[in-house]
Amino acid sequence: MNTINNNFIPDLSVDIAGMHLKNPIMTASGTFGYGEEFKDVVDLNLLGAIIVKGLSLAPAPGNKPPRIVETACGMLNAIGLENVGIEAFVRDKLPFLKKLSTPMVANIYGKTIDEYVGLAARIDDVDGISAIEVNISCPNVKAGGVAFGVDPRSVYQVVSAVRKASQKPLIIKLSPNVSDIATIAQRAEEGGADALSLINTITGMAIDIHTRKPKLANITGGLSGPAIKPIALRMVWQAVNAVKIPVIGIGGIVSAEDALEFFIAGASAVQIGTANFMNPSATIEILEGLTRYLKSNNMATLRNLYGTLVL
Ligand SMILES: Cc1cc2nc3c(=O)[nH]c(=O)nc-3n(C[C@H](O)[C@H](O)[C@H](O)COP(=O)(O)O)c2cc1C
Repeated sequence: MNTINNNFIPDLSVDIAGMHLKNPIMTASGTFGYGEEFKDVVDLNLLGAIIVKGLSLAPAPGNKPPRIVETACGMLNAIGLENVGIEAFVRDKLPFLKKLSTPMVANIYGKTIDEYVGLAARIDDVDGISAIEVNISCPNVKAGGVAFGVDPRSVYQVVSAVRKASQKPLIIKLSPNVSDIATIAQRAEEGGADALSLINTITGMAIDIHTRKPKLANITGGLSGPAIKPIALRMVWQAVNAVKIPVIGIGGIVSAEDALEFFIAGASAVQIGTANFMNPSATIEILEGLTRYLKSNNMATLRNLYGTLVL
């Protein structure tokens, strides 16, 4: 006989980076457009938060095609952070997002610290943007093109500069292309991050053996999807153990079971990326799966699962 009481609605809500979210399911930047593109397939008001495509000060055309290649259990992309630019975003995309009950997070990137600061300052008093996610995986042109996110000193510099420029909650999105994620996470926390999100894509490449050319015009690209999930989970766990601020898990999550692994590792929320391309309703199905898991385990709140890894 089933003695489990199924007549309750589990509490999935979470407070993170100054936001109260109905649930911990967010969309990963660059995989959900500006939100509106998904309005006919996803009830956007059911999501925990919407994170939009990475924004720069000026519109960016991105890289030349081919920019996407399918790989085993994942994909490589070299979109090159194509976007409409902050002004067109605020003018044309934000009005739709403001009508939703779901908080919206603006993901930003720059090639210099001044560009990051300019974006953060521009967004600071814009209504309808609940938090800023700072993508530090971008090449720092003043440091020979090495990504900000791979050097602990430049992580601290960019985070503290953005912190000074904006009152909005800051989520710092970390690059996995590093050897010591714990130190990077600590420098971001010291710089003033309210939360961390990780991982961004892992640098990879693919070759066409007939032409012997790289399959991406950019030669290398970022690997995402289920192929990267074990790496993401390991890095999230290491970051959780290195800092006191909340950590948002990203990387290869396609099911509720995947998301649950991240919560057990200590993540307070997760982002769904490549799964949106495979199944546009992935976010909602993951949400439903979380509710089913909590009910079948007779757990009233998801928060009770956070960081419960048994060692
Ligand atoms: C096509 C594509 C575009 C992306 N664009 C961005 C972006 O603009 N800014 C950003 O911070 N991350 C971007 N990402 C990285 C994702 O947000 C996410 O961190 C990564 O894909 C790992 O998660 P996943 O395996 O669930 O896709 C992009 C990923 C993909 C696949």
